[in-house]
Amino acid sequence: MDNISAVILAAGEGTRMKSKTPKVLHKVVGKTMIKRVIDTAFNMGAGKICVVVGHGGEEVKKSLEGFNVSFREQKEQLGTGHAVMQAVDFINDGDDIVVLYGDTPLIKAETLKKFVDYHRSEGNSVSIVSAMVDNPEGYGHIIRDKNGSFVKNIEHKDASAEEKLVNEINTGIYCFKGKSLKKALGMLKNDNAQGEYYLPDTLAIILGFGEKVNAMAAQDVTEFLGVNNRVQLYEAESIMRGRINKELMLNGVTILSPDNTYIDDGVEIGADTVIYPGCVIEGNTIIGENCAVGPNSRLTNMKISDNVQIQYTVAMDSEVGSGTKVGPFAYIRPNSKIGENIKIGDFVEVKNSVIGNGTKVSHLTYIGDSDVGERINFGCGTITVNYDGKKKFRTTIEDDVFIGCNANLVAPVTLHKGSYVAAGSTVTKDVPEKSLAIARNRQQNIEGWTKK
Ligand code: UD1
Ligand code: CA
Repeated sequence: MDNISAVILAAGEGTRMKSKTPKVLHKVVGKTMIKRVIDTAFNMGAGKICVVVGHGGEEVKKSLEGFNVSFREQKEQLGTGHAVMQAVDFINDGDDIVVLYGDTPLIKAETLKKFVDYHRSEGNSVSIVSAMVDNPEGYGHIIRDKNGSFVKNIEHKDASAEEKLVNEINTGIYCFKGKSLKKALGMLKNDNAQGEYYLPDTLAIILGFGEKVNAMAAQDVTEFLGVNNRVQLYEAESIMRGRINKELMLNGVTILSPDNTYIDDGVEIGADTVIYPGCVIEGNTIIGENCAVGPNSRLTNMKISDNVQIQYTVAMDSEVGSGTKVGPFAYIRPNSKIGENIKIGDFVEVKNSVIGNGTKVSHLTYIGDSDVGERINFGCGTITVNYDGKKKFRTTIEDDVFIGCNANLVAPVTLHKGSYVAAGSTVTKDVPEKSLAIARNRQQNIEGWTKK
């Protein structure tokens, strides 16, 4: 949309969080609240965004490095109206200004777009989003006359007994004509119960100009949940998780226990994939079709193809090809490229390695810094010895190699095509093609030894 700017208020201290971290830097589903609100504002179509910071301002600014937003500082927190005053030079007369809070992270961009459409089509000078709530305590009440026309917003602390009964409240989301907002800000007073400059007082002021003011009713009240303490942080988290899981399910993913499944937004999962309980799927993870993931797995920034099975596994920053089975109890560490139709079994750790198609690593094995070919059999307890205490070295294993149980492969070393390693060997030299390496002492039996 053209000519929309957003002002995001994020100067409040958030004492009820009981945290050293500024409130808006607490995360909801893996992303800070302030980033969520900024992303939503951009998705709404804001051409420019101003964040008003105060408490923990330096930290908040630092967390937003690289974001195309401007900052204004509110040195003393003298109210929401005072906060917007700090951004007055940011406001263009001809723009519509949407005011958002940094601690209200669940609002959807599509809701805001509807809101701006409403504001424009009604020809309002200021619009707010209102909601009907059971308990209006702590909110601003929307007071209307007999005909239902907007009269004013009155804060709960300033409201009369009668006004306190009004359960249409101000969600704190506004859309102003820039010119009207600037004029009204200059007229705000702080003669109220809290001695603050209240932004919602601009509504009655603008009405006094003879301009149009009205409220759009919220469809879904949960979008406007403000986070003031850790209980509300949890509520925001579970609402957001619920949305993500629901969308995935509607797109063909089976999630057996959505209440016990933690998927970040942005994660992509293909149809007919089943997610078992206890999974945490994070970051830029992409999962293909017809996979089975979990129970109890944590996948971070993983690229997983179709028909993959992963159970009881921790995996990050790596790729898994189609038809591969991982786990139970595997650990895939960064920069691993695991191919197709591979078996990574129990207590196997893979780090910074490439593994070719059809290879089997069934149990108790460490593969680190290795280039592993196709159709290789790793015996139980194989270790690539990649670290001499100072430097890391790579191990190369060519196609069709067979490694017996309990072998150490001391890098740098290459096992050439089709070679064999005898069980219990510690291999320190390259093994030529199609040969057998035995690197252990021959067995000796001392007859009658116990009689001595
Ligand atoms: C505000 C509204 C109330 C509305 C409610 C919805 C006012 C006076 N009241 O009340 O009508 O129903 O939101 O949640 O606006 N902030 C600053 N600087 C300040 C004060 C606040 O940046 O000086 C920021 C806070 O960090 C917060 C937001 O503004 O993100 C709202 O402030 P808060 O004090 O929580 O307002 P409420 O009392 O909730
Ligand atoms: Ca609040």
